Amino acid sequence: MEVKIFETKEQMGIYAADIIENVMKSKEYPVLGLATGDTPITTYNELIKRYKNGEISFKNVKTYNLDEYVGLPKNDKNSYYTFMHEHLFDKVDIDSENIHIPDGNPADIEKFCREYDREIDDAGGIDIQFLGIGRNGHIGFNEPSDKFTEGTYKVKLTESTIEANKRFFEKESDVPKYAVTMGIKNIMKAREIILMAYGFNKAEAVKNMIEGPVSPSCPASILQNHPNVHVILDKDASSLLKK
Ligand code: GLP
Repeated sequence: MEVKIFETKEQMGIYAADIIENVMKSKEYPVLGLATGDTPITTYNELIKRYKNGEISFKNVKTYNLDEYVGLPKNDKNSYYTFMHEHLFDKVDIDSENIHIPDGNPADIEKFCREYDREIDDAGGIDIQFLGIGRNGHIGFNEPSDKFTEGTYKVKLTESTIEANKRFFEKESDVPKYAVTMGIKNIMKAREIILMAYGFNKAEAVKNMIEGPVSPSCPASILQNHPNVHVILDKDASSLLKK
C-alpha cells in the first residue's frame, strides 16, 4: 500500500485525479469504478475542471459504481444515481450508455447482481477503483462480517452505517435498510485502487485497514493483499497510525 498524507481535501483530490487521469490516458477504453459520499467530491471537481480545460475526455470511458440503496426511486435526491449525475456525469462528456450504477429496484435482484458482475467482466474489468471508507471499515457497502464477500449482492446495512448516512435524510427512519453493492471480490479484481479518507471520524477505520489483521471485521483490511493501492489521507484520518 502506498500511503500519502495531505493538508487539504483539495490536494487529496488533485493527487487522486492525477492517478485517474493517467489511467484514462493509458487506455483507449478505460473502465473506472466509482464511489459516492463526501469523500470523492474534490476528486470529481478536479476531473470536471480538467475536462473543461480540455485536458481529459470521458468519451471512451465506461464507469461502474460500487453501490446503490435498495428501494429509493432512481431520481430520489438521495439515490446514488442522482449523486453521480449531479457531481460528475452531467458535467462531463460521458456517453450515458457507458454509465453503470447498480439498480436499487430490480425485479429480480439475484439476476441483476449476476448481470452486473458479468458486465464488468465483459468490459475487461475495472482499471481503477475509487473507494471511500465507512467509519466501521466498510468499503462500498461491504459491512463488517465474518467472511469476505464475493460478487455483487444485496446487503443489510448496519446501525452504524444508517446512523452515519442519516445526515442526508430528513429522519433516520427514512434511511434505506438495504443496499446493492459490489462485493469484496469485485473490488479486489480492480487493477488499481484509490482509497481516500479524511477526518478524525475515519482514523480508527484507517488504522485497522492499514495496521490491523486482514479480517472481514474490517472489510477494508483486505486491501493489504492488493498489489496496487494508493491510500490518500489527511492528517486527521492518519492520526492513529504508528508512523
Ligand atoms: C457510504 C458509501 C461508501 C462510502 C462511505 C463513506 O456508506 N456506501 O461507498 O465510502 O459511506 O462516505 P463518506 O465519503 O460520505 O464519508
